[in-house]
Amino acid sequence: MDANRFSFLLLLLISTFLASANANITVYGVTGQQILGQTATNTAAAANYTGSAAYNPTVLNAPDIPTGDQAPAKQFTIQLQNGGTNGLSIIQEGSFLGFSIEMSVANQILGRNSSFIQVAFLNLMANLARRGGAVYVRVGGNTQDFAVLVDSLPDGKILEKDIEGSSNPTNTPPLKFTEDLLVMMRKISDFVNVRWYLGVPFNDTNWRLGIIERGEQILGDHLLGVQAANEPDLYAGHLHRNNTYGPNDYLGEMQSLISAIDADSKIQNPNCLIAPNLATGAWTPEMVWDTGFVDILSSSLAYLAVEHYPTDNCFAQFGSGTPRDGQTEFPNYLNHTSGQALVQPYLNSTAYAQSKGKKFLMMETNTASCGGFAGLSDSFGAALWVLDYSMQMAYGNFSGALLHVGGQNVFYNPFTPPPTNQSTFHQWTIGPVYYSTLILAESFGLSNQSQILDLGANSNNIYTPAYAIYENGNPVRVALFNYITDPSGASDYTVSIAVGGGQTGTANGTPGQVKVKYLLAPSVSEKSNITWAGQTFGDHFASDGRPMGTETIQTIPCDTSSNTCSIKVPAPGFALVFLTDDALVESGSGDATTTFPTTAYTKLGNTATVDPRVLATSNGDRGSGNLGSTSKGSASNGAMDNSWRGVMGLMSAVAMSGVVVVVLDLLVW
Ligand SMILES: *[C@@H]1O[C@H](CO)[C@@H](O)[C@H](O)[C@H]1NC(C)=O
Ligand SMILES: *[C@@H]1O[C@H](CO)[C@@H](O)[C@H](O)[C@H]1NC(C)=O
Ligand SMILES: *[C@@H]1O[C@H](CO)[C@@H](O)[C@H](O)[C@H]1NC(C)=O
Ligand SMILES: *[C@@H]1O[C@H](CO)[C@@H](O)[C@H](O)[C@H]1NC(C)=O
Ligand SMILES: *[C@@H]1O[C@H](CO)[C@@H](O)[C@H](O)[C@H]1NC(C)=O
Ligand SMILES: *[C@@H]1O[C@H](CO)[C@@H](O)[C@H](O)[C@H]1NC(C)=O
Ligand SMILES: *[C@@H]1O[C@H](CO)[C@@H](O)[C@H](O)[C@H]1NC(C)=O
Ligand SMILES: *[C@@H]1O[C@H](CO)[C@@H](O)[C@H](O)[C@H]1NC(C)=O
Ligand SMILES: *[C@@H]1O[C@H](CO)[C@@H](O)[C@H](O)[C@H]1NC(C)=O
Ligand SMILES: *[C@@H]1O[C@H](CO)[C@@H](O)[C@H](O)[C@H]1NC(C)=O
Ligand SMILES: *[C@@H]1O[C@H](CO)[C@@H](O)[C@H](O)[C@H]1NC(C)=O
Repeated sequence: MDANRFSFLLLLLISTFLASANANITVYGVTGQQILGQTATNTAAAANYTGSAAYNPTVLNAPDIPTGDQAPAKQFTIQLQNGGTNGLSIIQEGSFLGFSIEMSVANQILGRNSSFIQVAFLNLMANLARRGGAVYVRVGGNTQDFAVLVDSLPDGKILEKDIEGSSNPTNTPPLKFTEDLLVMMRKISDFVNVRWYLGVPFNDTNWRLGIIERGEQILGDHLLGVQAANEPDLYAGHLHRNNTYGPNDYLGEMQSLISAIDADSKIQNPNCLIAPNLATGAWTPEMVWDTGFVDILSSSLAYLAVEHYPTDNCFAQFGSGTPRDGQTEFPNYLNHTSGQALVQPYLNSTAYAQSKGKKFLMMETNTASCGGFAGLSDSFGAALWVLDYSMQMAYGNFSGALLHVGGQNVFYNPFTPPPTNQSTFHQWTIGPVYYSTLILAESFGLSNQSQILDLGANSNNIYTPAYAIYENGNPVRVALFNYITDPSGASDYTVSIAVGGGQTGTANGTPGQVKVKYLLAPSVSEKSNITWAGQTFGDHFASDGRPMGTETIQTIPCDTSSNTCSIKVPAPGFALVFLTDDALVESGSGDATTTFPTTAYTKLGNTATVDPRVLATSNGDRGSGNLGSTSKGSASNGAMDNSWRGVMGLMSAVAMSGVVVVVLDLLVW
């Protein structure tokens, strides 16, 4: 499930019943959110906020400090060994945590077309590629199932949502795209090591194979695989199939698809499919495995995969399902049990995948489907949660996970371009969960040899989990979490890390010193004052995609008498401990340059004195104006109407703030 489909439904409702659009219409569930999620700490601004979800100012209360049995010890030891450690994960790569970009917003996030790529997106990807070697990005989602590859679209567009043609019962609009979308992706890969997953339309069995034909030709080695079906276990529920549709029917359709692919001489690599991509809603993966699926289709399957969110916020979005309150949900994300409970149902499948020689992926996840929760999905707590959950997936032998990215109408985005008609004076908004992707890339690093272990630290206390990352059997990094918010400092903890049994500073002993980077914020509910190793992406509309500020890496000398290194972890906070200097270098530290050509641009506009946050909630930007794609007049393409101006605006805004702008030579002016 993704938010986008619901936004389309809402869009349809709006255009059908509420043609006289006004400020009340665009709230996209934000109003509902507040009815459900009102809390004592919601600011006045939040109470009256009618803008896009991506900039919602709601701040939740941090959960209470745990007491009694639940309270963690504030001092504990982690003893690690060189070699011989049991229970390590399979080998993981620094690209483990990537992104799933809803196909219908690809022309907002990646760029307008192949000659107009979003600079901030490139920078965001370059940050990750430098740390983890590569970035894996899926362009897909519910909209992939109805997508049609066409030769051209009016006005040189590469994507168009055909609202009028929306005929299926859940109103996912057919999406038209041109191969220039694929060319744009390829050009991105030429600048940064981004590799792609696509999806072949599965809304019916009149297979439309163009995306595979053109995708493999244009993307080449940068195409990792093609999803076949998106959450087929929900097809019957969403009325895309009849109500008897089960795993055997899906297997039959896969065989039909594979026959069509085999008969298509334009497809050179037929063995590229990713399946079954279950939501794990109506079916368990085992129900699919037990049809013989993997053995029967083995030669066509590049990966096995699922998609899953811990919960949903669909009621607030469009009034059906179970009402859920973000404040009530918040504590469910702020402990180690959450990630463990999400991964546990898949452990049998990751073992099964290994036994079949396949990698197992989480193709789409985030805090909650239908856009997430205000104040939760965009909080520091969510950043800690995504990091813990991702490390748990790696420990549980997933081979990768993709964080879903929607449009302006969701709370959970790792990054959001400015609304297109605000992009002359606004930059991108980087969500807290983007920091998680950055840190995960650093934690697993560039070696492609990392193995992950959940240390069960501090007697398995749920608020202070820790992982160790091994290379060639030896621990190289340690990841330490503190989920508690306690400004008094009384819930900070100090962990004593020891390695091997030998004398400190010797080959099989605790290192003489370690390097530490911290992820910090004053509270788990913090939305913008977040730093990773001293650097930040700032508040709403503040980023050109590069971290701001000076990187600070702590050097901590270890104690030669106790043979331990003492690391303090604030409440809340996260620390990544590098046990060797090589471990730091292998995480991409020290080389801050991007490799693509740059040009400096000077100020183009005259909006320097406007406070973006005032503008964001000012009357002029309220209402349908925040969401081009939801206003009736521009329903099919509104989101991109002004992107030409948008990219220019991005540059001018960046230039105004005195930052040298990375501008691609290929930009057309
Ligand atoms: C918005 O909704 C409120 C409450 O439903 C109503 O009082 C107000 O008149 C509406 N505003 C507009 C501009 O329609
Ligand atoms: C919301 O806006 C109205 C009108 O501007 C104002 O009277 C009211 O105090 C505001 N509510 C809050 C909670 O700020
Ligand atoms: C890409 O978009 C820009 C801006 O809208 C436009 O000028 C250009 O013609 C487009 N390029 C192609 C190849 O369609
Ligand atoms: C599947 O999608 C295509 C393109 O949007 C559409 O033409 C076709 O009618 C759809 N099939 C069904 C069964 O809805
Ligand atoms: C339901 O769909 C399956 C395959 O998708 C088909 O075999 C079956 O005949 C359909 N049943 C009805 C009642 O249409
Ligand atoms: C694990 O999956 C296999 C394959 O579907 C199945 O046969 C087995 O029963 C499952 N084991 C458990 C404990 O669920
Ligand atoms: C920890 O998270 C789990 C899973 O989300 C939740 O069920 C549990 O209530 C949380 N524990 C506390 C003490 O909040
Ligand atoms: C992950 O796979 C490795 C290698 O097969 C295995 O030893 C380990 O137990 C698995 N971990 C989990 C949590 O299932
Ligand atoms: C690690 O894997 C990525 C692809 O996932 C590759 O681009 C990179 O070169 C590999 N690095 C090493 C050191 O092998
Ligand atoms: C930002 O957070 C840090 C703690 O991470 C705190 O020391 C600092 O005072 C905060 N700054 C502001 C402006 O709130
Ligand atoms: C953005 O567009 C909307 C609707 O077209 C308009 O109401 C709003 O004033 C515009 N905002 C800016 C800053 O141009």
